[in-house]
Amino acid sequence: MTTPTYSPGLEGVIAGETTICTVEGGLSYRGYSVGDLAENCSFDEVAFLLLHGELPIAAQLKQFHTRVAAARRLPPPLKELFAALPKWTTPLDALRTAVSSLGHFDQDAADNSHDANLRKAERLLAQIPVAIADNYRLAKGQPEVPARQDLSHAANFLYMLRGVEASPAEVKAMDVSLILYAEHEFNASTFAARVIVSTLSDLHSGITGAIGALKGPLHGGANEKVMDILLAAGGPEKAEEWTRAALARKDRIMGFGHRVYKTGDVRAGILKKYARSAAEANPAREGGGDPLKWEETADIIERVMATEKNMFPNLDWPAGRLYHAMKLEIPLYTPIFAMSRITGWAAHVIEQLDNNRLIRPRALYKGPAARAVKPLGERG
Ligand code: CMC
Repeated sequence: MTTPTYSPGLEGVIAGETTICTVEGGLSYRGYSVGDLAENCSFDEVAFLLLHGELPIAAQLKQFHTRVAAARRLPPPLKELFAALPKWTTPLDALRTAVSSLGHFDQDAADNSHDANLRKAERLLAQIPVAIADNYRLAKGQPEVPARQDLSHAANFLYMLRGVEASPAEVKAMDVSLILYAEHEFNASTFAARVIVSTLSDLHSGITGAIGALKGPLHGGANEKVMDILLAAGGPEKAEEWTRAALARKDRIMGFGHRVYKTGDVRAGILKKYARSAAEANPAREGGGDPLKWEETADIIERVMATEKNMFPNLDWPAGRLYHAMKLEIPLYTPIFAMSRITGWAAHVIEQLDNNRLIRPRALYKGPAARAVKPLGERG
């Protein structure tokens, strides 16, 4: 047996093969660069691409939309479960519970065939935004807003959340953020999903685990922490001093740095202009401050991070600001990430199960040398 190499955090390790996405030469999904997709496609088209392998023709997109829109509803017991959750339950934790529970109600739950997995993936794509919006409104004591079948994924979500249709500019900005969040190769949550289903578990279990992995602030949870950073920095006047002091304390500035991208994340550049436009469209408001002030603060932090740490923003940096400018509450930001990444997760689950081999790496043992057990009375 050859001596295995060890890389902490599996950095640089090739842990599998995929046809879904690559970060080599700029991020692309099934051969299309994310910039091209963000400019020329809707999230719904990108969801089809990730799940079905090719961009849809018009008739395929229409059928896909019809199937997904028809599945925008939850089993009634799930709403009772939401009502029973402790009031401190975060929207992401409620979503994790919802996806796990939805497995009980899905007739295909235990069927790991390619076609059954696609059916389940499309249903979860439809159900996740409904679960986020219903749970959110319930927690606020507001009546639920039934899903609309005529709206896109992004537009329907904003409609269900607010009870009024979003502007075309808001829908476009949300759509672009969803396209950029949709897929990212062997990131922690996707890898977690692949590990789970590699035991021949099922899609709902894999996605439930993926949501748990997404939650952490080093991964998807970072988009919620971005606003904490900006609020702590306090505004353009104090931002430079605050950032230097935070770096001196060795604090992590959430929304910066990346395991793979060391010279910048192309997705952050694409979304930045949407965050700025949303801030311009939403002037100062009570309680949440002035979105333009946070854009200026962000620019200063970016400059200091580049000069002091040679570190650049990742996608969560503009996404957190965009959602804040759109007046969405901070605890919804990571659930929104999940509402998009369900496509990438499901595509990977399907790819794994279509050609499965158990994922079971080794550990480098650093514990005590071999020793004999002493009888209880002789220990200590
Ligand atoms: N701010 C300040 N210092 C940082 C940051 C940061 N955001 N990120 C890394 N460092 C420092 C870190 O403290 C360490 O310093 P030292 O060598 O002195 O101990 C060094 O850089 C290497 O850090 P690492 O954690 O070993 O690097 P990594 O490649 O494992 O980290 C990362 C990747 C994303 C976990 C990290 O950059 C980070 O914690 N960023 C902030 C959280 C964040 O924005 N996460 C979102 C990631 S991208 C999209 C997504 O998945 O949601």
